[in-house]
This record gives sequence, structure tokens and C-alpha cells, in this order.
Amino acid sequence: MKDVVTLTRPDDWHLHLRDGAVMRAVLPHSASQFARAIIMPNLDPPITNTEQALAYRTRILEAIPNGSAFQPLMTVYLTDTTSPSEIVRAKESGHILAAKLYPAGATTNSNLGVTNIYKIYSVLEEMQKQGLILLLHGEVTDPEIDIFDREAVFIERVLTPVIRDFPTLRIVLEHITTQNAADYIREAPATVAATITAHHLLYNRNAIFNGGIRPHNYCLPILKRECHRQGLIRAITSGNPKYFLGTDSAPHSRQRKETAYGCAGCYTAYAAMELYAEVFDASRALHQLESFASFNGPDFYGLPRNTGTITLYRKYTLSPDRFSFGIDDLIPFRAGEKFEWQLVK
Ligand code: DOR
Ligand code: ZN
Repeated sequence: MKDVVTLTRPDDWHLHLRDGAVMRAVLPHSASQFARAIIMPNLDPPITNTEQALAYRTRILEAIPNGSAFQPLMTVYLTDTTSPSEIVRAKESGHILAAKLYPAGATTNSNLGVTNIYKIYSVLEEMQKQGLILLLHGEVTDPEIDIFDREAVFIERVLTPVIRDFPTLRIVLEHITTQNAADYIREAPATVAATITAHHLLYNRNAIFNGGIRPHNYCLPILKRECHRQGLIRAITSGNPKYFLGTDSAPHSRQRKETAYGCAGCYTAYAAMELYAEVFDASRALHQLESFASFNGPDFYGLPRNTGTITLYRKYTLSPDRFSFGIDDLIPFRAGEKFEWQLVK
């Protein structure tokens, strides 16, 4: 049994940092774990153009703790009115790697998202030409569709036509949650990959209702059945380079989670690598952690792999109950519970 794991410093290919005081509260956690992260643009108001993305990048860089070389990799938020010329500007900036498609109304701050994929076909054409990556929140918002089926229907109604119509566009189906999605990605062309969160690998949907309603385990896409969790584990331990790490760490204040109309999101960034290590270890696949966390993402994005390393030790620790988060508290995923691994900081 391995008790120490050293791996190339990983990256987080899907991260919510928010802004202002709350961003300053969470950023040091990601900076201590990861070299780079793809920063989600769903602020309020969202980051819909290059100028906003570059200004947001500057605010992040100013908040990075001294001594950290953390690099934010920026994205822009697609709307029905995004223009192809905005894609050209984004690419020219040198700091924007991807554009994010939120189906309108799918999740936090997605109201200005895309209402119909065909409305942005000229934008996708330009992204394909410019080599900007398309990031997908892969859920339909049709209220007729059961919440547990929204990912599968998205694959059928949106992803399949986009892959067919844009054969060289690089696409990441983010935070996949089902066996079907994992299978689909495996069989898709090499231009298509997926990120997987730690929370979808650790918990199934029972965790939302365990002994009472658990708002801190509510995220979108929602946790699925155990057979799907097992399917995701098989995917990441298969060694297939199409799957890589994206925490989707999504901090919300305690007040916005513990309420009648609570926000979706699990805050995992403070212990992301500890959580992923636990998953790989439980499947006796710790040797696969490095490619998932540190190689597959940069290889897909066409970026160099990182040069430094991190080390994780097998050691029981207790997670903090809370972090301060601006004027409120942030309750982390697994608050006050046991961890099996510890990252040496
Ligand atoms: O759980 C989630 N939280 N899923 C998302 O897609 C968005 C995120 C957020 O921004 O809070
Ligand atoms: Zn997200």
C-alpha cells in the first residue's frame, strides 16, 4: 500500500473563483494545490467579452498570495448575441483559452446564457477557426425533462449536432455525471474530452438526502445513482486521456446554501487533490492519478505540462467546519469530516 504520492503539479480545468472579497477568500486554496486553472465566467454580471475577462484576470493576479505562481486561464461566457468578432478578439488577447456555453437558466448566473445552440453557430464556426475551446455545461433546461436525465438529453440534442457540424472544434463536456456520458466521450472523436469533479466521484445522489436535506451536497449537474458514480470511476481509472480533472469547486455563502431556494455548488477547492487521491486510492489506481490530474488536461489544451511537483501523504485529518467568506461563512464539502490524504503545502 502506497502512503506517499508525488506527482507533477496538477491543474484545475474548471474552477469558480467569484470576485472581490469572496474571491480573495478562496483563491489561496486553489493556488496552493494547482499551477493553473480555467476560470469560469459566470459572475454577476457575467464575463461576456475580452475586456471584462482581462480585467477579471488582473483582479485575480492581484489577489494571488505572494510566492505563488498560480496562473488563471480565462474564458468568456457565450450569449445569444456574442459576435464572431468577439471570438477573434478573445483569441488575440493571448489569455483567453475557451468560451463557455451555459444553456440559459441551467445553473448559477446562467440567465444570459444561450437559448438555442443554432443561434451561436457563426460563433462556433469562428471558435473552430481560431482554435478557441468550447466548454459545455451539458444539461438541457427543458422543464419537461427530468433533472436526472438532463445531461443525457443534452448529449443527444446539442452535443451530437455540434460535433457533427464542427469536426475540428475542440470541445470539453464539463463535469460529466453518468456512465452514458463517460461512454459517449470515450467513443467521440479526439476533439472531444470531459472533466470530472471529485464530488461526483465520491458521492451518489443519496448524499443529498442522507438523514435530511443536505444543501451542501446539492450541485448541478445533480449527483446521480451509484451505478453512474461507478461508471465515472471506471472512466478515470481506465487511463483514457480524454478524462481530466476539473473540480467545479463552486463556493456560495452559507446563507445562500441553507435556505428555501438554495444555490447549486460544492466547495472542494480547499482539499481537491486530497479528495481525488481518495477516489483513486479506493480503486487501487493511485498510479493513474497523475495523468488525470496533471497530463491529460494540458495535452488536450495544447499547453506544456507543469514542471514542479506536489506530494500527498496518507494521513487522517479532519476537515475544517467553515471558512470565512466575505461577510458570511463558507461551508466546505465534507465539512468537519475525515480525510484520508493530506497535501503537503
Ligand atoms: O453546482 C454548480 N455550481 N454547477 C454549476 O454549473 C455552476 C456552479 C456555480 O457557479 O455555483
Ligand atoms: Zn461550474
